[in-house]
Amino acid sequence: MIRHKDFAAVLGIRRIGKTSLVKVTLNELPDYVTLTLNLGRLGSKKSYPMETFSKLFLEGAAEFLRKYTFAGKVSKIIANRLGVNPEDILELNWLKISVKLREFKTEDVNEITRALDSIARDNKKGLVIFIDEVQNLKKVNGFDIGSFFHDIYEWCENTVIVVSGSVVGVTEEILNQVEEDKPFYGRKFFRIKLERFDETESEEFLRRGFEEEGIKVKEEIIDEAVRLFDGIPGWLALFGRSYSYSVKHSHPIDIRVVVKEAAKQVSKEFTGFLSNSNSPRRYAEIILSLSRLGNKGTLSEIRDVMNSLYKENIGDSRLHELLRTLVAYGFVIKSGKGKYSLPIDLPSRLGLKHSAKMWLKRMP
Ligand SMILES: Nc1ncnc2c1ncn2[C@@H]1O[C@H](COP(=O)(O)OP(=O)(O)O)[C@@H](O)[C@H]1O
Ligand SMILES: [Mg+2]
Repeated sequence: MIRHKDFAAVLGIRRIGKTSLVKVTLNELPDYVTLTLNLGRLGSKKSYPMETFSKLFLEGAAEFLRKYTFAGKVSKIIANRLGVNPEDILELNWLKISVKLREFKTEDVNEITRALDSIARDNKKGLVIFIDEVQNLKKVNGFDIGSFFHDIYEWCENTVIVVSGSVVGVTEEILNQVEEDKPFYGRKFFRIKLERFDETESEEFLRRGFEEEGIKVKEEIIDEAVRLFDGIPGWLALFGRSYSYSVKHSHPIDIRVVVKEAAKQVSKEFTGFLSNSNSPRRYAEIILSLSRLGNKGTLSEIRDVMNSLYKENIGDSRLHELLRTLVAYGFVIKSGKGKYSLPIDLPSRLGLKHSAKMWLKRMP
């Protein structure tokens, strides 16, 4: 896609390997240089000021300028825009930069992007702008997403955009919006959906990893890991790393320790989601109702459990709406028409339930 100058969108749940896939790909394309905007660094708040985005953008730009010294000139352009010295940009001297960031707007971002595009072209390189966790762009107040994408489309012939998105629903919204906006002339983002490894791939992944580490691991342990982590590369990698480390330090750990560690991460993410949502209580109740139903159920089953167990009086259309959001964030899986389930991997199930329980306990 990059070689064909197509824009690409890598979609899939958290820890499925989106960032890794893009980074590995870019490493193998020596004729391209990359500007990475890591929006995954934004937290779970509902909105952020433009300044927060500007900061991330400058971080990406500074990394670019340090890595590709031929682009040094661009630091002058940025420095001029902000009224600081070029060294302040390269060294990210926030003391100097921060006060000026308030003036920094989408047009400035566009101008710098154009400069990067043209300097890459002068050096016979293509430019890839990688926007990691692009759905977070929606949270930035005052950033004009349409203008940013269209400016690149119109003025940066040498540039390709690659985005990743964990919240597939919101990412699709952004992509559709950008594609429907007028001057995009039918240019499309090509979607790549990353799925979990199947059992064979998971096994292979662990075997090869342990082999590289020079470690012998019993079949049962590999089988159990494959079962508990449901083909999610991030969990398999976490398990592989922790297990190798523990064996090398001659105190092999129980797989449950890793599950717990992973569940903690999910719990933290879900609590972050709840803290910033309008109906945290109801979201928590949905998770626990699903759990009560044996981890899966239809909309009406969930409704009945919620209404009796938590004395709610929720209607189908509201419940449907809440479920849709949980599905968009990957906290609930839609397994058929009107059918829902909790994610299959154990860390997600444990983490979600733990977070939901704690929420209801703390906020009776
Ligand atoms: N194909 C792969 N081979 C080896 N490790 C992988 C692969 N995909 C992902 N990983 C590992 O899984 C973890 C999560 O991957 P990441 O790319 O950060 O996921 P995402 O960006 O989708 O959240 C990382 O630690 C990475 O090292
Ligand atoms: Mg990522």
